[in-house]
Amino acid sequence: MSKPLFNDQFLKACRKEETEFTPVWYMRQAGRYQPEYRKIREKYTFEEMNLNPEVAAEVTRFAVEQLGVDAAILFADIMTPLPSIGVDVKIKSGVGPVINNPVRNVQDVNNLGDLNPEKDVPYLMETIGMLREQLNVPLIGFSGAPFTIASYMIEGGPSKNYYKTKAFMYSEPEAWFKLMDKLGDMVISYLKAQVNAGAQAIQIFDSWVGALNEADYRLFIAPVMDRIFTSLKDTNVPLIMFGVGASHLIEEWNKLPVDVLGLDWRLTIKKAREEKGIQKPLQGNLEPAILLAPWDVIQERTKEILDQGMEQPGFIFNLGHGVFPQVKVETLQRLTEFVHEYTAKR
Ligand code: CP3
Repeated sequence: MSKPLFNDQFLKACRKEETEFTPVWYMRQAGRYQPEYRKIREKYTFEEMNLNPEVAAEVTRFAVEQLGVDAAILFADIMTPLPSIGVDVKIKSGVGPVINNPVRNVQDVNNLGDLNPEKDVPYLMETIGMLREQLNVPLIGFSGAPFTIASYMIEGGPSKNYYKTKAFMYSEPEAWFKLMDKLGDMVISYLKAQVNAGAQAIQIFDSWVGALNEADYRLFIAPVMDRIFTSLKDTNVPLIMFGVGASHLIEEWNKLPVDVLGLDWRLTIKKAREEKGIQKPLQGNLEPAILLAPWDVIQERTKEILDQGMEQPGFIFNLGHGVFPQVKVETLQRLTEFVHEYTAKR
């Protein structure tokens, strides 16, 4: 079977070029909301799925085919590289990542190792290679950002207020910067390896960095993010930044050498462009809970976003955060179709 023509609309939007329609993909588009995913999960743990390139490639590709989206995202997790640097992490279903040896002092930071992606996560490189043969849409590679990864490492698991992380940052700035350096190195080598293996765009998830104010972001986070994006520039693939509850930080993100900003549902596309002065391409940002409402509500909210997004080139439709397990597959299928039809240039 020959591969159908390659759909490059997502990559074009990332480069702020005109597209034939607004490209769309969904964060967590492969996951428990799909009966087919749940079926595979009866046989394997999440970690086992990751370790098995056939299975990881299959769930990545199946989501693309089932939903008709314009990009694939590698099936892995932001925790995937951590065991290789000495972090004892397990993903607990319904909870999230739980870490048995949290980082609490400079000694713990010093004990962290380096990541050698080709040696430590060869299965991921293999999954990427397989996907590039199978897909007719671009493949997005990804990593967690240092703050978000550090928040799990320091708290020991998911958190509401990140007080342990912040206490560490404020009390031991030297150890904090050492940790950011190490995680920065890890993220850079991890993402470069993904691009070498065939990833065609990169998204960095700094999901929880919105917990910091602007001044602290500038002081404690911006330097490592700047180093990461600067170092990834020479890969020549589009770089996307995403975080939740981080509208107050997007002017800071805008200063980074990143190509696309991913918004959650708190800030409209129009305000991001007009009031915050963002010229970079934007990705987002349907409130994910809207997907649990009747279709006419979903359609109305989607139209509002698309009307704003389409005003200039450089817009990718997505949710403001990941798909909830309670969402129906049919809802996302209908949404993808609607986005494509509503935005198609005639
Ligand atoms: O489809 C995709 O988006 C690609 C794969 C992907 C996963 N996690 C798969 C996954 C991506 C991009 C992530 C990123 C991720 N993981 C983030 C950043 C994005 C965000 O949501 O803010 C974060 C914070 C994590 C940490 C994490 N891993 C959480 C909170 C959970 C959910 C725990 C739960 O059960 O509710 C995970 C596990 C996880 N990662 C699952 C999947 C499909 C569920 C595993 C399962 O039980 O089957």
